[in-house]
Amino acid sequence: MRKSIGLLLTLCWCASAQKTEAITDEAKVPAYTLPAVLALKSGQPVTDAKSWTTKRRPEILAIYEAEVYGKSPARPPKLNYEVKSVEKQALGGKATRKIVTIFFSDKPDAPKMDLLLYLPAAAAKPAPVILGLSFGGIHTVANDPGVPLAEQWTRDNRKQPSAEKSRGGEASRWQVEKILAAGYGLATVYYEQIEPDFAGGMKYGIRPLFFKPGQTEPEPGDWGAVAAWAWGASRAMDYLEKDKDVDARRVGLIGHSRLGKAAIWAGAQDARFTFIISNESGEGGAAISRRDYGERTTALNTRFPHWFDGNYKKYNDRENEMPFDSHMALALMAPRGLYVASAEGDQWSDPKGEFLGAANASPVWELFGKKGIGTMTMPDLHEPVGDSVRYHIRAGKHDVTEYDWEQYLKFAKAQWGR
Ligand code: GCU
Repeated sequence: MRKSIGLLLTLCWCASAQKTEAITDEAKVPAYTLPAVLALKSGQPVTDAKSWTTKRRPEILAIYEAEVYGKSPARPPKLNYEVKSVEKQALGGKATRKIVTIFFSDKPDAPKMDLLLYLPAAAAKPAPVILGLSFGGIHTVANDPGVPLAEQWTRDNRKQPSAEKSRGGEASRWQVEKILAAGYGLATVYYEQIEPDFAGGMKYGIRPLFFKPGQTEPEPGDWGAVAAWAWGASRAMDYLEKDKDVDARRVGLIGHSRLGKAAIWAGAQDARFTFIISNESGEGGAAISRRDYGERTTALNTRFPHWFDGNYKKYNDRENEMPFDSHMALALMAPRGLYVASAEGDQWSDPKGEFLGAANASPVWELFGKKGIGTMTMPDLHEPVGDSVRYHIRAGKHDVTEYDWEQYLKFAKAQWGR
């Protein structure tokens, strides 16, 4: 992870005077009680799919808009895009490669993003596609000299032309050849073209396009950067719906880490995503916030003040007062597919908390006659569990690996039926 933190910080996060250490010992985790996912605010139990869809789901979505990610603008009436290139013999003849620029506004200097799309060369019909938010410019996704180098934001928050040596820098995280061999396409967009990821990066991203006259800073309830990245994923989906080579009824969304948080929020709001994959999304993502293990709300809000709605800061050191928890956010995907994954070496993201988020969301799928995780016991390493909701934990560090993709491709096949 480009911006991952060192072990020291992970184990000793001096976020506030009251709380100096992140717990990574299961025996020290205090007891907590989760809010009920299947009860209305009034207390009335939710026992059927219709009441979930028409009553409880909108309640939870509204809570997350007001308290966590902030309210996103609606889908723009028109999508402006330009197909920059189409190469039919990419990746040694295995793929058709398209590069498409998506414009967020008519203003000439407004942000725009480049979408890289690989489709299986031999596809006889429109291909299902996995869309991903990526941490690097599109040239980092595969070792493909045909993709032009993109400008990227650097650690000191400057935009610079990328060096040739960064080409393919994320290739192991995307497993393009495996995806193509499964008969699917891969689309990626670089998240910092939607909003650069540093406090103060907002002014270079899309949020100011939606400010009220005279507004210069977000107000409580306004969307944060995570929601902006999620919104960008939906704009990529707008394009995929227009591409005749894409089976737009079969598009899944993947995000890793902070982009896993964004994928959860994108999937919650945009029902066109037939599944989402949260890879090690951790706190503010799939992990149960009430579990005092690994990263906590104060650390998140302090180190990344631009990620969430300002109201989320109310819950610093007050997780037990949240009228929500991650199982409720994950349940917003029902009855579509949900995959949550963890890594043993990524205790900061709280693997067990991620599992419990998915497990406690699962009863909502049962209302639709689908099977969720099917167990409340955390599985062993490399033992994926569940059906429409799946979970695995693998050995190794915070990353997206070949093993992860092997599981995601099996899940995609089960979800898509092809
Ligand atoms: C930090 C942060 C996490 C986040 C991760 C990432 O570790 O504390 O919440 O998921 O960065 O995006 O890499």
